[in-house]
Formats: sequence, structure tokens, C-alpha cells
Amino acid sequence: HFADVARVPGDPILGLMDAFRADPNPARLDLGVGVYKDASGLTPIPRAVKLAEQRLIETEQTKSYIGGHGDPAFARHLLELVLGAGSALLHDDLAGATQTPGGTGALRLAGDFIARNLPGRGIWLSDPTWPIHETLFATCGLKVGHYPYVGADNRLDVDAMLAALEQVPVGDAVLLHACCHNPTGFNLSPRNWKRVLEVVKARELLPLLDFAYQGFGDGLDEDAWAVRLFAAELPELLVTSSCSKNFGLYRERTGALIVRAETADKLADVRSQLALLARNLWSTPPSHGAAVVAGILGDAELKALWADEVEAMRQRVTSLRSGLVEALRPHGLAERFAHIATQRGMFSYTGLNPTQVQRLREEFSIYMVSSGRANVAGMAEERLAYLAEAIARVCD
Ligand code: LMR
Repeated sequence: HFADVARVPGDPILGLMDAFRADPNPARLDLGVGVYKDASGLTPIPRAVKLAEQRLIETEQTKSYIGGHGDPAFARHLLELVLGAGSALLHDDLAGATQTPGGTGALRLAGDFIARNLPGRGIWLSDPTWPIHETLFATCGLKVGHYPYVGADNRLDVDAMLAALEQVPVGDAVLLHACCHNPTGFNLSPRNWKRVLEVVKARELLPLLDFAYQGFGDGLDEDAWAVRLFAAELPELLVTSSCSKNFGLYRERTGALIVRAETADKLADVRSQLALLARNLWSTPPSHGAAVVAGILGDAELKALWADEVEAMRQRVTSLRSGLVEALRPHGLAERFAHIATQRGMFSYTGLNPTQVQRLREEFSIYMVSSGRANVAGMAEERLAYLAEAIARVCD
């Protein structure tokens, strides 16, 4: 009976959006959910997306279903964006993309695939990680374990990470954030990625690279460096790619699960299983966002415009990072928060504790996740002084 159904708390990240909207304080500042905002506080639709949409309205012939793997043109272009246009894997049919409802859909498909087709394998997540990783893989029935990533001193601890991965059961899956780690913003250096790769090889682990922020860290190709390294060096790999942030397509739910297999035949086997799983999850994926992405990446002019727009977003976030550290300087806090300028992507693990986060919200209408994660992409140049002042007050 419904009488036995208990109420659970709302989602901690999406709930912040509602709380922010309901806050009447004109000084309110939303640093919660990971969406990019421009200087006026709006999440813009990129110009390239608008143009591709206009074209689509004119040329789209049907709304009939697309296939279980989605739009083949989208898959082809996205594979090139992620793996590199000249990738030998694409030439040899060793990698394929299945279109999914957003990056979350790709994660769910990956989780179900591991649970159904690789029985007995657990999955290991960074501590901390995106909270939905925790619940999503548990919902798939996977045993979820953790490896350390950022210590209590709010520093990346690669030695602890590697030591833990060396203890992971042979063959288990390990989730790695390909760039722009969510929630911390701490990335692995190329040298450390290579160290992780060695452990992955030695333990025969199956890496699942979550790639939701391509273009927001160091650049579109630079951010794909680890994905391309792993894809070249390992016979088997899963990559979840999201077009939410870099194409600004959030609500259109556009993403893909990319599989790299050892042979073209084995890739076809795996993809047949993915189609079966997807059919039972969402049947066929939504079309619009993927058609827009295919339209952009398949047109040299639109692609160049889009790449410029991504670069502008990236640079704005980078300058907000150093801007905040500068704004904290008059309060004597520039040293303490220097990491904000060197972290990458939308998020910063500020080091603020839950009590300080709560005070920011109650006393200053500044919203961030209780872990101390701030969405830097939600800041605005002219609000940095207010934010710095508020941080100084709660750090007293
Ligand atoms: C976030 O972490 O804020 C984003 O990935 C958006 C989401 O769905 O939580």
C-alpha cells in the first residue's frame, strides 16, 4: 500500500535551485547546481545551438523514433570530439557511441551493463564524488567502494588514491573523472594519470571515465587527453560523455556511452547488450539535442563558432577563479583560498564546512552545496566583493 511509502528528502543539488528561486533577497547568489551563467546571471543558449536549431526546424522531416543507439551522425561526430578526429580506434571500428538521455543516462546504462554482463564486479568511486554516482550505481545493484581523492586538508592525495586502487579486486570497475573533477575541481596531472593507468593495467581494472565537462578545464582537446591516453593503451574502456555543459543543452538530455573494445566483433557484442538494456530503460533516446550537436559538429562554420563559445565560457570561469582569490586578498584570505585559482572546471571545493555554508545561505543568500562545493561558473565579476566579504565573515 502507498500507506507504507515513506518520504525521502529532495535531491541536495536540485533542491538548491528551488530554494534559491524562492529567496526574495535581491543580493542572492546561486553557486549550487552545475550550470554555466553569463555576467547577467542567465544560462545562455550558445549562438551555434540557436543557428543549428533554426536549420533543424527547416530541414527536419520526421519525428519518428531514432534507433536504439541514437543518431549515427551524432555518434560519429561525438566520437571524433572525444577520441580525436584521426583516432585509429574509429578507423578500425574499435569504439562506438550509444546516445543516451544526458550523461546521467550514460552512467545508468554503464552501471546496468556492468551489473548484468560483468557479474561480480564492483565499482570504485573517488571520495568525494558527485552524489548521484553513489546512488545510481547502488540502484544498478553494484557493490560500491571508495578510493581516497581529497584529504581532510582539502588537498589532492594521489598517493592515497593509488595505494587504495592497488587493493581493488582484480577486474573491478573504477570511475575516474576525465577532467574537471566534480565536486572538487582538483585534476590529476598527466604524470599522475600515467601512474593511475599503470595500476589499472596491473589490476586489470575496467575504467569508466566520466567526461561531463569537456572544454571547461584547459580546452576541448586538452581535456580529452586522459580519455585518449586510456583509449589508446587499454583494450577495454567505458566513457560517459555529456553535451549538457559544453553545448548548453542541459534540459535536452544529450549524452552518450562510448565503448572501446579489443576487436570490432567484441564491440558489436557489447553494443547489442547496450541496445537491449537501453530498450528497457528509455526505449530510444530523445532526438533534439543530439540532432543539434550533429548539426554543429558536422558544419565547419558552426563548429568553429561553437568552439569559440566554449572557449569564452572556459576563460570566463578561469578569470572568476583568480578574481575571487584577489577579492579575498583584502580580507587576508588569498593564501588560504589560493587553490580556487588552480582548480579546474565549474566547481571548487572551497574548504568551507557545512556550518559556514549554512551561514552563507542564511545570512547572505549565497547558495552552495553543503560539502563546500561552489559553482564558480555561477559567480559574476561585480559580485565577487560581496562574496568575498561574506566568506570572510563566516570564516571569522
Ligand atoms: C551538478 O553536479 O551540479 C551537475 O552535474 C548537475 C546535476 O545534475 O547535479
